[in-house]
Amino acid sequence: RPHLSLHAMDGLMMEEVPLARIAKEIGTPAWVYSAGALRHRARSLKAALAHAGLTATVHFAMKCNDNLAVLKVLGAEGLGADVVSGGELHIARAAGIPASAIVFSGVGKTLGELRQALAEDIFQINAESAEEIDMISAVAAEMGRTARVALRVNPDVDAKTHAKITTGKSENKFGVALSDAADIYARMAALPGIAPVGIATHIGSQITAGMSAYRAAYARLAELAKALRADGLPVERIDCGGGLGISYRDEPAPSPEALAGAIRASLGELDLPVMLEPGRWIAGPAGVLLASVVLQKQGAAHRFVVVDAAMNDLVRPSMYEAWHGIVPLSSVRATAPLAESEVVGPVCETGDTFARGRLLPSLQPGDAIAFLDAGAYGAVMSSTYNARPLAPEVLVDGTNFAVVRGRQPLDALLHGQNVPEWLTT
Ligand code: LLP
Repeated sequence: RPHLSLHAMDGLMMEEVPLARIAKEIGTPAWVYSAGALRHRARSLKAALAHAGLTATVHFAMKCNDNLAVLKVLGAEGLGADVVSGGELHIARAAGIPASAIVFSGVGKTLGELRQALAEDIFQINAESAEEIDMISAVAAEMGRTARVALRVNPDVDAKTHAKITTGKSENKFGVALSDAADIYARMAALPGIAPVGIATHIGSQITAGMSAYRAAYARLAELAKALRADGLPVERIDCGGGLGISYRDEPAPSPEALAGAIRASLGELDLPVMLEPGRWIAGPAGVLLASVVLQKQGAAHRFVVVDAAMNDLVRPSMYEAWHGIVPLSSVRATAPLAESEVVGPVCETGDTFARGRLLPSLQPGDAIAFLDAGAYGAVMSSTYNARPLAPEVLVDGTNFAVVRGRQPLDALLHGQNVPEWLTT
């Protein structure tokens, strides 16, 4: 995490900005992203693909971070977007991502969302079932448009990641079975309003177990592409999905070079352009969640550090038993003796726990801490549970920082609510 460093005077810095200054000026909880890290990671990924001799486009999986300023930074690096809803498509366009760089994934796109995608004339729709293909054809015909459609195939490989985020096994809801793919693709070519452009897959997220699952999936895609071509069907590109894992703790994580190599090895002979849909690898390490200690209490069994962030902000630990590094912002605290602590939020659920038995220095009320690697699947997954307003988002760029999304005001919690008249009389 080269954008983070610990200074004797200023404590934990992101680029040239002391995070304690942001905590003080903006308050906590707050999400903070490094523009420098986003740029650097986008460039390294593109460089790895180019170095492997691949013609590739990168479509940032916006589901992991849909902040407008973050998208602006990544758009300026030439990244397109992978969207999964009409809402994400709307934000992507508002961020200036060209429609010609947008791909739409997901098992349940509604007629309304398909109309929106066709009206925008986006680059590609990834269809996940024969039923969806009929819907796309009907909508396209009704609008007098042609949809460029890739078929998402479920390659039935085990990416060896958390069960809640594995997507490429036959029992998962995603894609069509490999054995049905050729028939469905041929049908796609015959339907009005559809131009079949290729095949797609995505086998899971936070993949750290090496490249073997990727290789197996891509090898199956290569075979399918060859069979389709032999049948005289057009295959213009292969969408390789996302899923590249990062090191949250000290687990070894694969490099973009390894992924590029796996793509090259399995799909290279097709000599087609490839697409990638990375989310976490680009944005995860680029962001932190700042929180302040409310109090430290000694329970019967544990020392509890109660902070002002909660599971409604960062849900990953409660939802996936995910591990996020925790660093005090002050360098004095960072070097104090350590003791095992339970780091918890104020929400009324035992699951509102960020860390168990974590070695931390004694923390005093008001001390600020950072949860690391919170730039992906952080702010986007937050809710207002316990009527806790959404935390602000801040972008750091060199010596500058700016609030790029303000803290939700309390009145927003009442916005749109209506008490029917009969209750008030
Ligand atoms: N493409 C498709 C079709 C996807 O479903 C996903 C993620 C991605 C790309 C991006 O995957 P990435 O490169 O970020 O791994 N909330 C979970 C992760 C859910 C991932 C869902 N799909 C978490 O916090 O770990």
